[in-house]
Amino acid sequence: MDQVVIKIRDDGPYKVTGAVTIVDVDGTAFEVPEGAVVLCRCGLSASKPFCDGSHRQSGFASRERASGPPT
Ligand code: FES
Repeated sequence: MDQVVIKIRDDGPYKVTGAVTIVDVDGTAFEVPEGAVVLCRCGLSASKPFCDGSHRQSGFASRERASGPPT
């Protein structure tokens, strides 16, 4: 199994690379085979949980840097 990588984009979505299954609160599963999918981080996408590019027009700004997992 290939490693899944989640990259946090400045002022944008989470980019998930690798084969994953995304399951919503109702249990609906979205299979994402090899490749990449972007998940909304701004809350404005009309197709959540996926990014639709709305963050670009909204002025969403977020440039956090990871300092390590929570302890
Ligand atoms: S991060 Fe792209 S629409 Fe929310």
